[in-house]
Amino acid sequence: MTLDHVFVSFEGELANVANEPALVQLKARYLGREGVVTRLRKDIDFNALSPEEKRSFGQNFNDLKTRVEQAIEAAAARFAESVVETVDFDRTLPGTDRRLGAIHPIISTQIEVEDLLRSMGFQVYAGDEAVSEFENFDALNIPGDHPARDMQDTFWLENGMVLRTHTSSMQNRAMRALGVPVRAIFPGRCFRNEATDITHENTFYQLEGLMVDKDVSVANLIGVMRELLSGVFRRDIEVRLRPGFFPFVEPGFELDFKTTLNGVERWIELMPCGMIHPAVLRNAGVDPDVYSGFAFGLGLTRLAMLKYGVSDVRLFNKGDLRFYEQFRATL
Ligand code: PHE
Repeated sequence: MTLDHVFVSFEGELANVANEPALVQLKARYLGREGVVTRLRKDIDFNALSPEEKRSFGQNFNDLKTRVEQAIEAAAARFAESVVETVDFDRTLPGTDRRLGAIHPIISTQIEVEDLLRSMGFQVYAGDEAVSEFENFDALNIPGDHPARDMQDTFWLENGMVLRTHTSSMQNRAMRALGVPVRAIFPGRCFRNEATDITHENTFYQLEGLMVDKDVSVANLIGVMRELLSGVFRRDIEVRLRPGFFPFVEPGFELDFKTTLNGVERWIELMPCGMIHPAVLRNAGVDPDVYSGFAFGLGLTRLAMLKYGVSDVRLFNKGDLRFYEQFRATL
């Protein structure tokens, strides 16, 4: 068979190839080790050829091989294209569920609040969940016989430490460790010996903040709180203060923010706060005649309930995946 004949017969076979496997077979039959094209060169007796004939054979052989290879490549490309076009694939189906999990709604709220306060110059100072009785109570102006201890009954450890009832327990340690002036926040888990219902849990999250400097006033407190809440709710938030009693602040306040619920304007109680009591400053080695400061105790659990419209606080700790999976979008 001459080289030209080989190509004609190849073209004839290629025209009948209907799919990729058949093309692979055809390729092997022509270009494989024992293929028709390969054999052409193996079988020829080069000694019988003049130098001229050798050169011309070589050229024609290479031409043929290239044409066969190119024709096969072109056919392969056509098959590849048509596969994409005809495959039975519904592009509107949801993607494969990789089950990456989600950030717990309280933690995502915490991260957001931390970011906002960091942008106002506060540093995050993490604390311990088990603290001394002094840090949780006495340093905060709550001596052993104070009635406030009844409201914050907690779990006592055998070594005399307590599971902290509030993040205020970090105030003393932070002022000592960081010195003044200081702007710091302490987020974390708190515990109370409490009967649970839709608004009470024995385990919950707070985020405490304090700012101590010369000439800090209630105006600074209001400014920081407005900025923070406007960031969390992504609109301008109005706040108001009402008197509130806590032994470690003087004056003490309950901070409310204004919201519209079903077309009706309402004030929602959100966070206790106040000017740090002189005795609390003194307990941390800070001179109250030189320095003043404010502190606030943001209920992260409560804020997450407001933000996401969760009506039962117990859902956060229950471990029910149907609840957590609704927050997957917050990843
Ligand atoms: N620690 C208080 C509580 O848990 C809240 C609070 C913090 C009040 C800071 C005033 C200032 O109830």
